Parts: sequence; C-alpha cells; structure tokens
Amino acid sequence: MPERATIALAPGDGIGKEIMDACLAIFHEAGVGDHVDFVDVEMGQSVFADGETRGMTDEAVETIEKCGILYKGPMGTPIGGGGKSINVTLRKTFGAFANLRHFQSLPGVDTVFSRAGVPVDIYVVRENIEDTYGGIEHRLTSDVVECKRLISAPGCDQVHEFAFQTAKRLGLGVVYCGHKANIMKMTDGLFLDRFRTIGDDYPDIEKKDVIIDALCMNLVLKPQTYELIVLPNLQGDIVSDLAAGLVGGLGFAPSANIGDQISIFEAVHGTAPDIAGKGVANPTSLLLSGLMMLRHVGLLKRAAVIENALLATLEHNVHTGDFGDPETPPVGTQDFAKSVIDHLGVLPSEQEAKPVPMHDTVTFRPPVRPSVNMLMQTFTQMRADVVGCDVYVATTMTPLELAQRLERIAVGTPFKLTMISNRGTQVWPSGSVYTEVVDYYRVRFELEDKHLIGQIGQGPTIHLLRRIAEKFEIADFQPLKNFDGERGFTLAQGQ
Ligand code: NAI
Repeated sequence: MPERATIALAPGDGIGKEIMDACLAIFHEAGVGDHVDFVDVEMGQSVFADGETRGMTDEAVETIEKCGILYKGPMGTPIGGGGKSINVTLRKTFGAFANLRHFQSLPGVDTVFSRAGVPVDIYVVRENIEDTYGGIEHRLTSDVVECKRLISAPGCDQVHEFAFQTAKRLGLGVVYCGHKANIMKMTDGLFLDRFRTIGDDYPDIEKKDVIIDALCMNLVLKPQTYELIVLPNLQGDIVSDLAAGLVGGLGFAPSANIGDQISIFEAVHGTAPDIAGKGVANPTSLLLSGLMMLRHVGLLKRAAVIENALLATLEHNVHTGDFGDPETPPVGTQDFAKSVIDHLGVLPSEQEAKPVPMHDTVTFRPPVRPSVNMLMQTFTQMRADVVGCDVYVATTMTPLELAQRLERIAVGTPFKLTMISNRGTQVWPSGSVYTEVVDYYRVRFELEDKHLIGQIGQGPTIHLLRRIAEKFEIADFQPLKNFDGERGFTLAQGQ
C-alpha cells in the first residue's frame, strides 16, 4: 500500500473559495488524489464572527496538528476588536519558523526587468516567529510606547539551518544574510553570528552578509545578484514584498511556512473583496504555493508537471484580468485553471522547463505529538553575573536634577549611577543640551567595586529598585549581566 498524506484545507474568505477550487481542479486532473487526501477545516471570517478570537475552531487546530500540513487561501483579519491576524497566529502557534518565498520571472508577466531581459529568480527565507512580531508592546509613560524585539539563538539556528538546507537542495552556491547588525549589535548581531556558525556546517555554500538598506538598493538595481537571502522577521517581511514587486506583484509569489512538525502553504495576497464572487481572481499564487506543498510532501514529479503546464499556459498569453498582454482578452479563474489542465504534459518553449524528476511518492510523515512544549537551547551552562541594572523612570526632570536625586538614593548600596540616557542617547554625565528629551529616562547603575562581580545575586538590584520606586514612577527595569565574562548589554549612544 503506497503512503498517502492527509492535508488540512481552508479555502479562506473573499476570493479564497474561487482560487482554491481552481487549484484543486488542477491537482485532481494531475492525479494528486492518488497520493493525497484533503480534509476541510473551519477558519477565517465566519469563525471570527462566532466570537472565536483565534479565527479557528478547536477541531481545526486538532486536524492541523494531526495532518502536519495546512493549505490555505487568504483570510480577512477583523479590524478592531480582539481578533489578531490568523496568519500570524497560525505560524506562531504551530512553530512554522521559516517563511520561504520564491520570486521568479514568469512568462507573460510584464515587469521592468522582463522588459530589460533581466531574469529574476530569488528565494527569500524570513524568520517567522520572533523579532517585533512577538507583538510585546507597552505604553511606558504618557508619551512613550515600546515594542520588545526578542531574538533567540535557537530561533536563529532553526531558520539558518533551513536556509542552508534549502540552498543545498536547490544546488545554490551562495546564501546571503540580510541584517542591521551595525546598529542593532546584540539582536541583529546574534542573527548574523548564528548565520556564520550554522553556515560553517555547509562548506560548499558561500556565506555572505549584506546590510538591509544596501540589500534593498541592490535588489532594485541588480536583482540577479541574489539567489537566496535569509532575514529576521520584520526585515524579511519588507524585503519579501519588495522582491514580489520585482516579479510583478504578490499574485505571483508563493509562500510556505515551514516548521519541524507543521507547515502551512498559503497565497500571500489578501481576500480581494473588490472582486470576490466575480470569478475573475488569479489563482497563480495559491497554485505555486500548492506546488511547494506537493514538493514538501514528496510529489516532486507531479509538482514539476503542473509547474510546466502553468508556464506553458502563461506563454500562450492566457491570463486573468490583473496581469498579462492587454491585447489578449482576460479569462476567468475557472478558464485559467482549465487552460493549465489542458497543458498538463506540455513543456514551456521560451522559458526553461522545470526538470521533471521520477520521484513521486509521499515521503512526508505526520507529526508525532509531543507531551510537553519542547525546550530549545543553543548556549547551555553560561555563567551570568549581575553587574548592575538599568532602571527606566517616567519623569520630566532635567538630566542633572535627576542625576542628583538618584545619586543620593544610591548612597549605601553597592551601586553607583554611571549614565543616564534618553531615547538611547547619553544625557548625563556628559552630553549635549541640544539633545531633545522625552518623559522616559534610562538610568544605569553599576557595581562600584568590580570585585563584587560574581559575588552578588539579583537581590541588591531589587533593593535599589525599591528605593527608587519610593520617589519615582518606574516604567521598566532591566538587570545588567555579564555572560561568561562578556558584557550582555550595549552602551548608550555617545557613552
Ligand atoms: P488584497 O491582496 O486582498 O487586494 C489588493 C488588490 O489586489 C485588490 O485590488 C485585489 O483585487 C487585488 N488582488 C489580490 N489578490 C488577487 C488575485 N488573486 N487576483 C486578482 N487580483 C487580486 O489586499 P487588501 O485589500 O489590503 O486586503 C483585503 C483583506 O485581505 C483584508 O481583510 C486583509 O486583512 C486580508 N489579507 C489576508 C492575507 C492572507 O490571508 N494571507 C494577506 C493580506 C491581506
């Protein structure tokens, strides 16, 4: 009995059902049903409307966990109320840590680069869970809000490992890491550092890094420079859409969210409410995402056959209304799918055909449910020594006034006030009177006697915090530590 895969299916809202029906019709005719069963799950607007703020039912969660694969159409995020983006919730809940998108020039899709004869073929791997997408935000004072940006070593390792594995599978020679480590030395610095460390396990692949702003300019000037780029979440989000623009827009950019156990394949465009129900939507993005899914399952041959049929269809100027030759009348969603079906077995002639491998068996295995949340660790047994603390206070005092008050408070504790900054720039003991300040100061205390490093625990910093809290409104608190003797915090600008 050959292995079969079961895939959870959520067509989505708006144009979702139309484009999903089109993709499933193509899959059916290509014989995907010989290896795959689809099972419907309830997600999206109707579930939000029933008051479920996750946008999916418990049964849907259970089915996705059992299957290990979700194929989904676009879903609307309710504006206002408690509902969060279902797309972000899905990726985070199921640990789909890497977002893989493929941006390639397609025949019949007119772009600046296609007109210039410059082919674009770029993979973007975006970290999917951490960074500012943790959505950990607080109002700190009347005037100041914050978003915590968390980057973890195991989180970096997962996404870099996936990026190098993908490059290896695709036979690519260079992987680029996009980052802003020149400014965010600890967060982007860790992302870059782990890129280099993980890359050492792949000696046949060259490792290069590029600062994110330069990357954006280069992508627009000479996109052919890049084959695969790995990025932190927010930067990856922006670069993904930039790259989509290079190949004609989001309608042509497939997306896979890959986890160790559960993966999600989706169209990256939205529900297109303006054309929903009219039968004119373009199913290409969802179809290409579906092909990534078939390859993930192991159906390499069928995926290549369908991709070649799609390329041949596009070469024959068959297009929906959102793209293509204005001289050729557009077709509807169903006719577009029918044309792809008619081209099954046909190879494109202008564009290089995708090689059709012999392999066509299900290699994917559904997840084995863990009994508890898995702890991931990269650095174990590091020694963390308290060296001081940063206390954040809400006040409109001048830096000098504040320093005088705080120095008095620190008398009799093992700490001395070493620095005050505002919005990251030092304003005491030195600084410029031209530095404009807001009602949120960071005050840094460090151990006066360095011999105490390693001798004291967190208690004295909490004691100091209590004393400050008697006189000031505390907005935040951060112990300062050395890790294995290395400073675990940055200096202020100008310090
Ligand atoms: P949108 O992508 O739905 O539409 C933007 C424009 O592109 C519209 O003119 C639309 O007609 C067109 N378009 C999009 N997909 C198309 C397709 N397959 N064929 C032809 N034309 C297409 O973005 P918008 O309007 O900002 O968002 C609408 C809804 O979709 C919102 O509720 C949003 O939250 C949701 N959304 C969901 C996403 C997902 O599920 N992955 C991603 C982005 C938005």
